[in-house]
Amino acid sequence: MVMPKASTLLSWYDVHARRLPWRALPGVKADPYAVWLSEIMLQQTTVVTVGPYFQKFLHKWPRVQDLAAADIDEIMHAWAGLGYYSRARNLHACAQAVVGTHAGIFPSAQAELLKLPGIGPYTAAAVAAIAYGQAATVVDGNVERVIARLFAITEVLPAAKKPIYEKATLLTPAKRPGDFAQAMMDLGATVCTPKRPACGRCPWTKPCIARAEGNPETLPVKAPKKEKPTRRGAAFWIVRADGAVLIRKRPPKGLLGGMMEVPSTEWLADVESGLSKDIRSRAQLLRQAPVDAKWKKRLGNVRHTFTHFHLVLELYEARVPQKMQIEGVWVQPENFDDYALPTVMKKVVSLALSDTTQLVKSARRR
Ligand code: ADE
Repeated sequence: MVMPKASTLLSWYDVHARRLPWRALPGVKADPYAVWLSEIMLQQTTVVTVGPYFQKFLHKWPRVQDLAAADIDEIMHAWAGLGYYSRARNLHACAQAVVGTHAGIFPSAQAELLKLPGIGPYTAAAVAAIAYGQAATVVDGNVERVIARLFAITEVLPAAKKPIYEKATLLTPAKRPGDFAQAMMDLGATVCTPKRPACGRCPWTKPCIARAEGNPETLPVKAPKKEKPTRRGAAFWIVRADGAVLIRKRPPKGLLGGMMEVPSTEWLADVESGLSKDIRSRAQLLRQAPVDAKWKKRLGNVRHTFTHFHLVLELYEARVPQKMQIEGVWVQPENFDDYALPTVMKKVVSLALSDTTQLVKSARRR
């Protein structure tokens, strides 16, 4: 067996590295703050999506001190659309901890990094390697795939994580470990792809055991995904006489914590509500409306998928008098962009503002 060499991958990276906004130019020291920020954003989110958010954050808050001093609502607003909103809360808490207990300088030791809010083993290793040149083992989904194939690790994930980590540790070089980590990620993202890997372009074709065995696509082996349940609920589009619409802040803890929402009911799977979809009726949903009003059901539903469930939201609309007192903020629809609306709520707004009466008419004509 030919042992893969880190130097072979680094030479490939020197030519093929992706140009990404958070990467320091060759020979330039990476800013730990920018590395940390990008790594938090890149968890569960694609490189393409993260790009503009990363630029926006660095522009608004160029140093960790700026982010620590920022208003949390402004951070949530800037984060809106990236998902997994607890990351944004932890981002703020982490910036404050770095300023409060580390004089504004990110620690370089993985053990110290791990103590900070929102930093787990992956992020600690990535910051230590990329920002501080430490030979930390950085393993994300892309790296997992590359290693599983290179060494033909056939254990099922997540059990395969341990042998994968061990092999990755053996491969990680003392020189340029940050480039090595990012080279592994780039190889996984652009060559050693989940489907139809471009083995002809891979710098490690020779030592790759899965390639020799002719089955790279089959690795890593993943445990079958559990089917996601569907939860249901309703959102309430409350329009005041002057055209303003009510939105409110969700509680700080829990799903979409601290983000703004078009008022909505609890989101429950049919089994959790103890009722079937048909019986969990309009009356039951409307009982959870923030105000007594003449509700009209809007045509169409909002669908959104979260990590653990699919959500189907019905939409109800009511007009209320100008003097109506309900907890929340009244916003003219053209000003919704001023608030931290998560993607599912942007979908609610978009359905509410769409002209579904046209759909009703054309459906009748047929
Ligand atoms: N995914 C997570 N971190 C990354 C990085 N530094 N470069 C490319 N892809 C990544």
